[in-house]
Amino acid sequence: IPVDPFDLVLFGATGDLAQRKILPGLYHRFEVGQMPEEARIVATGRREMDDATFRDHVRSAMKEFAPEVKAEVLGRFLERVEYVAVDARGDYGWCRLAGSLRPDVVRAFYLSVGPSLFQGIAQRLHDHGLATPDSRIVVEKPFGHDLASARALNEGLRTSFEEHQIYRIDHYLGKETVQNLMALRFANSLFEPLWNATHIDHVQITVAETVGIEGREAYYDQSGAMRDMVQNHLVQLLCLIAMEPPSKFAPNAVRDEKVKVIEALDPVEPGDIARGQYRPERGDDGYLDHVGNPDSRTESFIALKVRVANWRWAGVPFYLRTGKRLRARESEIAVVFRDPPHTIFPNVGHLRGNILVIRLQPDEGITLSTTIKDPGPGGFRLADVSLDMSFAEALGADARAQDAYERLVMDVIRGDQTLFMRGDEVEAAWAWVDPVIKGWEDGRDRPSPYDQGSSGPEEALMLMHRDGRRWRQIG
Ligand code: BG6
Repeated sequence: IPVDPFDLVLFGATGDLAQRKILPGLYHRFEVGQMPEEARIVATGRREMDDATFRDHVRSAMKEFAPEVKAEVLGRFLERVEYVAVDARGDYGWCRLAGSLRPDVVRAFYLSVGPSLFQGIAQRLHDHGLATPDSRIVVEKPFGHDLASARALNEGLRTSFEEHQIYRIDHYLGKETVQNLMALRFANSLFEPLWNATHIDHVQITVAETVGIEGREAYYDQSGAMRDMVQNHLVQLLCLIAMEPPSKFAPNAVRDEKVKVIEALDPVEPGDIARGQYRPERGDDGYLDHVGNPDSRTESFIALKVRVANWRWAGVPFYLRTGKRLRARESEIAVVFRDPPHTIFPNVGHLRGNILVIRLQPDEGITLSTTIKDPGPGGFRLADVSLDMSFAEALGADARAQDAYERLVMDVIRGDQTLFMRGDEVEAAWAWVDPVIKGWEDGRDRPSPYDQGSSGPEEALMLMHRDGRRWRQIG
């Protein structure tokens, strides 16, 4: 279904994210007819350039990041793209930009720029009369560095836009499988009665990456895995697992429930954290070489044991881990059910609890481990077998790995904030993360070195072992 005609003003249009994700995402929505012919993308950047030159930029970006595009469709898509040079820090270009926008279509401003520019751009949009009561503003992470800076950003944006106009992107929420989590929990009656401390032993959330921090060394060394991944993506995943059923699938109903989860998170004890830095290996530099700072105490890996202190989750630990340069690119959530309380079968020993695994990437799908009788007339033996559902197989070719940005940008145009973070949600997550980081800054501990291509440092394994549990294997 096509969305309404729109003018999307893209700040930072020559930047990496715009070229790699946002413009290819829009192209794909155009190809399937969701972005209507009357829609326009007004790209802006500091450099002076004409439409044709910018379109050439997009063409070469597409070659690199979306080689499957069809030349004819790309030609028509590019006709929808214009370029206006605008100085985000000064007054140049704003009047021209104002003149290029249509009054009667949905208007969205996508700030694909560093957070230091958010408030200035929001202010200028307001001062030059570009922001209408219905226009939307989209911002990308990092949304703050800590609670104070996130609050300042929120306040800055709210001087020119209302909360219902502000779309804070966490691209994990746009991932198909992440949305499927909500379908799994709330469109099936099977799981919800079991979804609590009575039946669930613990939850493991893993976002393992093979990439390092190439090209983002300065940003990353100021952030580390806690700020870069946990404060946003992993907390969001945890919320979707732990939240109460919202009364409806509507922006505030969903986000209210997520905020309650974040507010219920217990402070993390220092002993419940394992941090790591990947070490040099076979001629390949390690983290400290990459950031060019032998004294850096920033973590490229983190594992945490987290408690959601409420009635539903009392006593159920959530183990979170994420890191760079690990064995495989693999993200999953494993909900580990309690062991059966009693074994009726002779000689089989202890029965293990079922595990529901939601695979986020790659090979998106859901697996439920079950125990069955080993076939055959021999003795009564048991075997572990998985009920396995791969989205690609179940849903066919249409399940083309749609990039999160395709979905999210269309939701902005539709005016649906369900998959975007509300200001209080972001602040609540920082309020939980801040004391942990402060503890590291005040202390002397260094992250432990770990091998590239491993599952992280030994301490991460210990975090589970001492509780008599094991991480699922990565890769
Ligand atoms: C980004 C982080 O938000 O998410 C990156 O800044 C990380 O460090 C990326 O690599 C992971 O996203 P995805 O979609 O590849 O899992």
